[in-house]
Amino acid sequence: MRTVFSVAKSVPSKVEAVVIPMASAGPVPSGLGLTRSQLLTMGFEGKVQQTLVLSPLSGKTAVRVLVGIGEVSDLNANVLRNIASTAARASSRYASVATTLPGVMRGSAKPGAQAVVEGMALALHRFVALKNDKGGLPKLTSVTLVSAERTTEVHAGMNLGIATATAVCTARDFANTPPSHLTARLFAEHAVAIANASGLEVTVYNRDQLKAMGCGGMVGVNAGSVEPPRMVKLVYKPTTAQGKVVLVGKGVMYDSGGISLKPSDASHAAMKMDMSGAAAVLATMGALRSMKVKTQVTAYLMCTDNMPSGSALKLGDVITMRNGKTVEIHNTDAEGRLILADGLSLGTELKPDAMVNIATLTGACMGALGKKMAGVLGNNAGVIDQLKSSSSRTDELLWELPLFQDYRKLLDSNVADMRNIGGPLAGATTAALFLSEFVGSTPWAHLDIAGPMDADGDDNWLNRGATAFGTRLLIDFVANFKKPAANKKK
Ligand code: BES
Ligand code: MN
Ligand code: ZN
Repeated sequence: MRTVFSVAKSVPSKVEAVVIPMASAGPVPSGLGLTRSQLLTMGFEGKVQQTLVLSPLSGKTAVRVLVGIGEVSDLNANVLRNIASTAARASSRYASVATTLPGVMRGSAKPGAQAVVEGMALALHRFVALKNDKGGLPKLTSVTLVSAERTTEVHAGMNLGIATATAVCTARDFANTPPSHLTARLFAEHAVAIANASGLEVTVYNRDQLKAMGCGGMVGVNAGSVEPPRMVKLVYKPTTAQGKVVLVGKGVMYDSGGISLKPSDASHAAMKMDMSGAAAVLATMGALRSMKVKTQVTAYLMCTDNMPSGSALKLGDVITMRNGKTVEIHNTDAEGRLILADGLSLGTELKPDAMVNIATLTGACMGALGKKMAGVLGNNAGVIDQLKSSSSRTDELLWELPLFQDYRKLLDSNVADMRNIGGPLAGATTAALFLSEFVGSTPWAHLDIAGPMDADGDDNWLNRGATAFGTRLLIDFVANFKKPAANKKK
C-alpha cells in the first residue's frame, strides 16, 4: 500500500489539498467564503459523492476539494467508505491531502476513520510492478486525518483501516501478478515471508509430502504441470483464543482447464487470478496479529497450476482424496474442488469450531449473481449468518445459494464414490455439494468468488483488475467470530 496516513489536530500548513466534507443541508463548512446558493450555482449541492474543486483561498496554497456527504443521518461506514474513495479520486493529482472526513458520522469516530482509510487507500491502489511508465498514476501518497477531538478514536480506526487496506492491496498485487511470475513455489515463499513478519507458524508441503499425506486432489491437478505444487499451512495463535477457525483458499496459480482446455478468450486470460481465494486467505492471516484478533485461525493455501500435458489427469481417471473418497474425473477444468477437498479434509481433522473456504470456483455462480456479489453455501446457519454480518459491515456482498441435497445424485459415478462435475444446471450448488463431502459434520461455509474476483472498471473503492474480494470480509469474520451451534454428527 502506497498511501501513508497520519492524524493531526489541525490541517498541516504544507498540504497541497484539503478535502472538505459538506452535507446536503445545514450550514456550509466555515471559512469556505461561499454560501450554499453560490455553491448551488456551481452545481454543488452536497449530495453523496458529488465533488467540486475550488482554488486556494487568497494567501493560501491548498486547493480545496469539496465532497458531498448527503444527509448526515444517512451516513454509515459503507456510505463513508464510498465517499472517501470519491474524495481520493478527486484529489489524486495532489501529493498530500488533509481531511476531516473521519468525523462526519454520528457516534464514535473509530469506524469513520477506518472507513475513510479503506476507501481512500483502496481507490488509490494500482498494480505498478511491471509498468515502466509510471505516469498517470495517482500522486496522492500522504493523507492527514484531521480531528480536533477524539484523536484516540481516529488513531485506533486509522490503524484498523491501515491493516485491512494493506491486506487487500497485498492480495490484489498477488492476483494481478502474471502466472509465470507467481508460481506455487514463489507464492509459498511470499507466504513464508508474510508469516515471519506477522508472527504466524508456517509449514510448506511439497509434492512428495502431499502424496505421502494422501492428497490425491492436489497431486492429481498438478499432474500435468512442470511447476510443482505447494500447500502452505499457516497458524495464528493468540495468547488466549476464543474459538478455532480453519480457512482454506483455492490457489490455482493459472487455470488453463487442463485437458478440458479453456478457449483462448479474455476470461481465460483472467485465470491468473484463480488463486484469488488463497491470496485473500494469506492476506487475512497477515493482518490478524496487528488487529489483536482473539480467534485461533489455521489456514491452508492449496497452490498449483492446472495444465494440459502428456502427464495430466485424463477424463475417466479416478483419484483418491485425503479422506479416502474416490473421484472420477469428468472435466479437468473442475479442478478447484479437487484441491479444496484435500484442504477441507485436513481442516476437518483439526476439529475446528467452523471452517470457511474461499474460491474462484464456478462460472455458474458468476452467471447467477454477476460480478458484484459472491455466493455463500454451507451446512451451518450460524456460520453463514456470521459471514452475512461481516458482509454487511465490509460491503463485500454475499448472496446465499442452496446446498440442495437432492442434487447430490448429479455427482454419482459408475466407478467411484462421485464424479467431479454435475450436470449443466445448478453448477454452484453441485460444486458446493462436492466440497461438502469433505467436511464431515464441521460447521462449514463456502464462498464462491468467481464473479467478484475482478472488476471491469473503477468503481468506488474497486479498481479495474483483481479486487481481493473476501479479504476484508474474512478479517471481519474471524475478528468477530462466535462459536456456532454444532452440526449433527454424521
Ligand atoms: N476457475 C474456474 C471458475 C471461474 C470462471 C472463475 C470464471 C472465475 C471466472 C473453475 O476452475 C472452472 O473452470 N469451473 C468450471 C466448472 C465446470 C467445468 C463444472 C466452470 O465454471 O465452467
Ligand atoms: Mn477450472
Ligand atoms: Zn479454476
